[in-house]
Parts: sequence; C-alpha cells; structure tokens
Amino acid sequence: MKYLSSRRGIILAGGNGTRLAPITSAISKQLIPVYDKPMIYYPITTLMLCGIRDILIVTNPNSVELFKALLGNGDKWGVNFSYAIQNKAEGVAHAILVAEKFIKNSNIAIALGDNLFHGNDLVNLLRSADKRIKGGSIFAYPVSDPRNYGVVQFDKEGNILDIEEKPDNPLSQYAITGLYFYDNSAFERIKELRFSPRGELEITSLNNHYLNQNLLNVEIMGRGMAWLDTGSFNSLQDASGYIRTLEQRQGLKVGCPEEAAWRQGWIDDKCLENLAFSLMNSGYGEYLLMLLKGLK
Ligand code: DAU
Repeated sequence: MKYLSSRRGIILAGGNGTRLAPITSAISKQLIPVYDKPMIYYPITTLMLCGIRDILIVTNPNSVELFKALLGNGDKWGVNFSYAIQNKAEGVAHAILVAEKFIKNSNIAIALGDNLFHGNDLVNLLRSADKRIKGGSIFAYPVSDPRNYGVVQFDKEGNILDIEEKPDNPLSQYAITGLYFYDNSAFERIKELRFSPRGELEITSLNNHYLNQNLLNVEIMGRGMAWLDTGSFNSLQDASGYIRTLEQRQGLKVGCPEEAAWRQGWIDDKCLENLAFSLMNSGYGEYLLMLLKGLK
C-alpha cells in the first residue's frame, strides 16, 4: 500500500453549485454529505491513495474558512493542506491556474471536488498514471448519458480524435472523469486557452491542447470501476445510496482519509486512536478502532 508520489495535488472545490440550490445557497457543494462523510473526503482520499501528501484546495471566497475548519492544515492525517481562493467560477482550467503559485515546478494531479471513484483497480490506475511524467493522463468511463460531460471521440482504430465538452450529440459513450494528471506545462497551456461560449476556461480545452501534441494518455476505466459525480439532486442521492450499500454490506468505508493515512504509514496507531476517540458518537470512530484491532 505504501507509495509516495512527487506530484502535488489540487482539489477543485470552487464553483457555485447552482445545480444543487437551495442546498448550496449557504454552503459549498463539496461540504455536503455523501452518506456518512463530507463530499470532499472522497477526492482527498483518492489523491492520498495515489501517494500525494501536498494538497491545495481551491475554494470560492465564501467557503474557505469552512474548509479550513473541517480539514485544518492536514497534520491530523499526515498530509499538508493549503488553500487558495478562486474569486469567480470561471471554469475548471481557470481554477487550476489559481494554483500556479503553490505548485511551482511540480507535476500535478487534479481531482474535482464532486467526483467519487471506487473499485479494485483504482490504486493501480492512479499509480501508473502518476508514473507517466510527461504530458497528461486522463480517464474515460462509459456512461449511459454522456451529454453532461467531456466526451471522447474515437476513430475506427480506437485512437482518440477529439474531446468535446457537453456535446448535444455525443460521438461515444465515454465521458472524461474528474481526475487529471498533468506535467507542469499545464499552466502555460491554460494561458493559451480562450474562454468557451459559457464563459469558462474549460478543462476539455486543456486536454485537447495536450492531445493535439500527442501528449495525452486516455485510460479507459473498466466496468468494474465506479465513477460517480454528485452535481445534481439525483446523482448526489445515487452516490449516497451506493456508498451506504457498500459500506453496510462490507463493513468497510469508502473515501476514509484517516484509513488511507494510516495504511500509508503517514499516521501511527496512536494518532489513529486519537482520531477515533474524537469521532465516537457517530460510529465513524468505532470503525477506526476496528482497523487498529486488525478486524478490517
Ligand atoms: O465530472 C466530470 C466533468 O467535470 C467532466 O467530464 C467535464 O469535462 C468537466 O468540464 C466538468 O464538468 P462540470 O460541468 O460537471 O463541472 P462543474 O462545473 O460541476 O465543476 C466540477 C468541479 O470543479 C466542482 O467540484 C466545482 C469545481 N469548479 C468548477 C468551476 C466551474 C471550480 O473549482 N471552479 C470553477 O470555476
């Protein structure tokens, strides 16, 4: 399980969350629960499983203090959290640009704050993307209705021709998930992009920028993986139901940063025990104690 990446992580937790109003009228989407934990725990755990310890959280100006109250500086989980503010929701690629100062020369892994991944092969997929130092690596996943996503267009040989953002007539079932690995040239590339008709710097434009230079690796996530986004009432409810079913059946948690930190050896038994004691009333703490007893 132990693995350390040299990348820095970015979680994009800005945006206006208007598709979830009024839930999001006073609170950021990424702070609301997906079953038994705040939504942002899932992408944080994804990056931790990839061995990433330095993580920047990009938020909108109103919510940064709430994220800090929830997550702190990361010490409790053996990671470093920093925070940056995106003043206006001008797109996913724009939010990445906000991170430029924090990232300096490193390569990056970006997780959208409302995306959730689960599956046997996840850790292997993450780590093999992490090892590709040059260019970009992204993941495509088959969905029944791809119109709300970036969608891959393939030629007859299965090569990727193009990625289209939210097409009315998608040319495949393969949506691009919210997990992106880029080399440091991403920042210079974003500066060359134009705003889309919806007024955003699109992550799809960045992916096409890499693709046009043959520097984009697109991995297919197989049907044994789960990728859920949580941006609408129904998808949020579906994700909560999915996590609840799995956790209750297996007795194992999905997206538990405390567990990922402990399994990575970033916190010791004593730290995990202390975290457990602070969470006893909800049952979450009992789960952490069970880990220590070796019952999971
Ligand atoms: O979920 C995957 C999809 O995410 C991709 O297939 C699309 O290509 C990509 O554009 C994106 O589509 P959405 O329209 O669903 O993105 P959304 O506006 O919901 O934002 C995704 C996350 O990024 C969310 O956690 C909020 C954050 N965000 C978004 C914007 C627009 C920011 O931090 N800043 C922003 O300006």
